[in-house]
Amino acid sequence: MKTDLLIIGGDGDLALRKLYPSLYYLELNNCMPADTRIFGMARTGQTREEFHNKIYTWLKKSVGDALFSEEKWQSFASKIWFAQGDATKEDDLASAKSEYFDNDNHLVIYLAIPPMIFGKVCGSVDKCGLNKPTTRLVVEKPLGDSRESFLAINDELARTFSEEQIFRIDHYLGKESVQNLIALRFANDIFEPLWNSRYIDHIQITVTETVGVGNRWAFYDQTGATRDMVQNHLLQVLCLMAMEPPACLNAESVRAEKLKVLNALRLIPASEVQDLTVRGQYSSGYVDGVEVPGYTGETSDKYEVDPNSQTETYVAIKAEIQNWRWSGVPIYLRTGKRLNKRHSEIVIQFKQSNHQIFEKDHSEHRANQLIIQLQPDAGVSLRMMHKIPGLDAGIPVEDGVLNFSFDENGKVTHDAYSRLFFDVLRNDQTLFVSAAEVEAAWRWVDQIFAGWKETSMSVQEYPAGSRGPALAEELLERDGRKWLNEG
Ligand code: BG6
Repeated sequence: MKTDLLIIGGDGDLALRKLYPSLYYLELNNCMPADTRIFGMARTGQTREEFHNKIYTWLKKSVGDALFSEEKWQSFASKIWFAQGDATKEDDLASAKSEYFDNDNHLVIYLAIPPMIFGKVCGSVDKCGLNKPTTRLVVEKPLGDSRESFLAINDELARTFSEEQIFRIDHYLGKESVQNLIALRFANDIFEPLWNSRYIDHIQITVTETVGVGNRWAFYDQTGATRDMVQNHLLQVLCLMAMEPPACLNAESVRAEKLKVLNALRLIPASEVQDLTVRGQYSSGYVDGVEVPGYTGETSDKYEVDPNSQTETYVAIKAEIQNWRWSGVPIYLRTGKRLNKRHSEIVIQFKQSNHQIFEKDHSEHRANQLIIQLQPDAGVSLRMMHKIPGLDAGIPVEDGVLNFSFDENGKVTHDAYSRLFFDVLRNDQTLFVSAAEVEAAWRWVDQIFAGWKETSMSVQEYPAGSRGPALAEELLERDGRKWLNEG
């Protein structure tokens, strides 16, 4: 079946920076059906040629010389049209419909616009007859800033579209390394018997960035690291790491298992937020040898920075999943901007048996660790003990690492969004987030915000380029642990 893709907000930042390059990768990988048509809709008039030129400039910059092919661009561009219009207006959509859309084609509508106009746009889509049973709607975060505001946004979508029609993007689920978590856990039978509180001491999930908030300050100051990263990306990674084996790899099974994890997350009461969470905000410092301003020292002529902002650019949380498999296993989450390196990984720290047969004088016997690197390098490492070769008395041991790297095992020529676009075109919701998941994630995050508010918990400063606030180290030290694999 032929598909028409309508991108509303079609010449905005998200579309130009992310969406067209990702669609180009589908073309590059011969995954874009030849009869797909892409329509970018925006209010500012421009010719098709002008629109192509704009996309071309962004695309070349974004995909880089190695993956850019003039021939592929030509075939990609032949699928792209510009449709002028204000999608909140029924008349504008109706004229785009009569001019461009073939009633027999499947229609995918991508809302690359702020959520506050989702309701109006969906209403117009419905009234002008663009919502057929096969129509799909794609949206992405920010989907609210609390459970309540999410439900309001979702109600607006649900007035027009059914849950089966709505594809909620979390771009982390489009990452190869994140999908590999599913493969690692369920295509390798050796892990399953060990994947529980009996053998696992604790888990760490880290997503650190070196970038600051830059020109997104105005948005970010209303959001902060917890809403921007934890509510969605980190909790989705946590779900894939912790969920029960789904009956099969379809959307219904996978999403149901992830939801169970979110519902089993222990809500952190106000009386415990000081002990279980850390909020940080970067001050000035050096990142990769370059001096950078602190969060409240960022400047722009587009917005006014609040010098007293208490928005967190770093957060660390000790979470717990209250179910049979995980009860008693702390799960430490941390994410932040302007840290010492860009680095995302999951560390599974296994327990160590109480009885040691190796002499301590010669060696330190360490418990095993499974390290799942998500980015920038994707791979899996297993830290394990082995004998130190030589004629030393006894059997001295030391720890070494078994490495598996994705990059050596197949070249990836697409990005996270390409994979997700591909699945939207195939009508597969497995890697998209259900409304119930988003709601459950907000419920957990809302509780943390309520605790911070009630206890007036302030942000701790950390210098840009550092490993984060000192209190984040203490969060683990109190439990006799430390952040692992710091590099
Ligand atoms: C986005 C956040 O969702 O994810 C950004 O809004 C963040 O603040 C980005 O920088 C990180 O994504 P990635 O793919 O670079 O890890």
